[in-house]
Amino acid sequence: MATAVSSRFEVVDVAPKIGSAIHTDKATLLSGERAKDIREIMERRGVIVFPEINLTDDEQIAFTHTLGTFAHEDGEGAKDGKDSVYPITMDSSINPIADYLKGAFFWHLDGTMSEKPILASIMSARALAPVGGETDFCNTYAAWDELPADEKTQIENLKVIHAMWRSQLYWKPEPTFAELEAWMARGSNTLPLVWKHRSGRQSLVLGATALEVEGMGTAESEKLLVKLRTWATQPQFSYRHTWKLGDMVIWDNTGTMHRALPYDHKSGRLMMRTKLEGEEAFA
Ligand code: SIN
Repeated sequence: MATAVSSRFEVVDVAPKIGSAIHTDKATLLSGERAKDIREIMERRGVIVFPEINLTDDEQIAFTHTLGTFAHEDGEGAKDGKDSVYPITMDSSINPIADYLKGAFFWHLDGTMSEKPILASIMSARALAPVGGETDFCNTYAAWDELPADEKTQIENLKVIHAMWRSQLYWKPEPTFAELEAWMARGSNTLPLVWKHRSGRQSLVLGATALEVEGMGTAESEKLLVKLRTWATQPQFSYRHTWKLGDMVIWDNTGTMHRALPYDHKSGRLMMRTKLEGEEAFA
């Protein structure tokens, strides 16, 4: 279904249960006049694509400010304290912690080490890989909604221990002791498996940082986490974005998971990301 108004702003769903494309122009986005609509669509649809909108870095920063509180990146690779776009690339001459970003090739949501994860990420394609490099998204609200009732009852009060080092082991299963210690210094965080949002909606909290279900044996815990990830990432809850240069995609980090598909690390693929501060703690 498409809606048209005075300035160009056409919304078209790209998959049944996740994702809409908004066909609009830079001026409309930068004016902030549609910010409320964009936030509403993001919360309802999980992912919004702005095809070939071609925002510059400064325009992306300005657009991010129209939607909420700009979240600064921390750590190496970030320009501490200043509003800036963050390079997502495997090129360590552009991002010195490119290796750490390899966790992004596995289903995850951002901010599981915090009490209040970021609300949203906004990512623009600056250079593409010739093959691969799509981004997959799945809707963790829809995945919860459609779980059979008896399974909901079994899991709704469970808690899961999350640790950043778990996600790093996906890409480097045999780290050095020093690497493991550095990852483990980031600590762990115990989160509800089912997030009861203040809106009344509920979503599954899963992803590559999920280490174990609290109080459950290792094998049972692993089985449950893999079963739920398999459920949540089924095609009916998912959308795969095949990038074109200049595309910008924004996703609700609180009700989706995402992952990058493999690509040649020497391909030069470069995405620029900004983020919105979280507004709601895991609960
Ligand atoms: C991310 O996980 O934030 C990046 C995903 C991608 O590079 O497609």
